[in-house]
Amino acid sequence: MKLHTPLCDLLGIEYPIFCAPMGFITGPELAAAVSEAGGMGIMSFGRNPPDLLRQDIRTLRSQTTRPFGVNMLLPADVSEHVAVCIEERVPLLSFFWGDPGPFVQPAHDAGLKVMHQVGSVAEAVEAVRAGVDVIIAQGVEGGGHIRGEVSTLALVPRVVDAVPSTPVVASGGIADSRGLVAALALGAQGAVLGTRFLAAAEARTHPVYQQKILAANETDTVRTTLFGYTWPNAPHRTLRTRFVEQWLPEEARGNEGRPDEPVVGATTVGGETVQVRRFMGFTPHRETSGEIESMALYAGQGVGLVNIVQPAGEIVRQLVVEADSILRR
Ligand SMILES: Cc1cc2nc3c(=O)[nH]c(=O)nc-3n(C[C@H](O)[C@H](O)[C@H](O)COP(=O)(O)O)c2cc1C
Repeated sequence: MKLHTPLCDLLGIEYPIFCAPMGFITGPELAAAVSEAGGMGIMSFGRNPPDLLRQDIRTLRSQTTRPFGVNMLLPADVSEHVAVCIEERVPLLSFFWGDPGPFVQPAHDAGLKVMHQVGSVAEAVEAVRAGVDVIIAQGVEGGGHIRGEVSTLALVPRVVDAVPSTPVVASGGIADSRGLVAALALGAQGAVLGTRFLAAAEARTHPVYQQKILAANETDTVRTTLFGYTWPNAPHRTLRTRFVEQWLPEEARGNEGRPDEPVVGATTVGGETVQVRRFMGFTPHRETSGEIESMALYAGQGVGLVNIVQPAGEIVRQLVVEADSILRR
């Protein structure tokens, strides 16, 4: 057996390894490095206005000739962003948290593929009905915003069975070659890794956040709605920091968006400096300052397997070599 699935041919990639789009973290450098290594780098739109997104797409394209994707979160109004992606002929559009339906036909008309991340069988069936080309089934052990309540091991085969004509990619808690091969055994045609790439050298992860990722183990995350100030009542998995422990008993408060919550730092969003108030969901990146440990440090349960910072290309190559050896055995 070889680490190659029909999905690789559909998308024009060598290996079925996807770098998760991570808001403020997966910029052009990280996505390009993963694509250059033969995987699929998916850049986050990063809540940038359309003109900045266009610049990022061009930067990414200047760093690789290989296919890549751009992710957009559907609670935001992304119609202009999608239009930019279509104009720039982004090979793969990736969506999360909403109805990708309105964007499918325009994308297909321009020759773009569409991928949608779901957290349940019902959502997968709906997305396939809307015409998406690839489904990501996200298990509850994943980092960042978590759509469903079922583990990757239980969800992926159910989704695979429910949408037999559509390739499915597994996501959530996969952080090494063993998880990647397990995903294939479940019927997935690839795996998305988010938390593992937080420790990529090209990731925009704030150094304090990155160190905490390296130090954390599988019991150090929690699924909560605490960082709901900017996106209320949307469950996410984050590191169980001292700040999180302190406020978990008052989880609901994080969703109130109180204007008098204290400022814990500053960050850049969409090219502009903004204040970070307590419970805001802005992940700290290299241009963030302040009390980093009081911010949303998203991570999946696979974080215990993430122990060193490596160039993204090296992560991809290591996954490939080790997965090949497992498959041969
Ligand atoms: C820091 C962080 C930010 C994320 N931001 C996004 C995002 O902007 N868009 C999205 O579709 N998924 C986002 N996710 C979720 C990923 O797409 C993916 O489901 C998750 O990382 C998989 O679990 P893992 O972290 O255990 O690998 C994010 C995940 C993390 C860890």
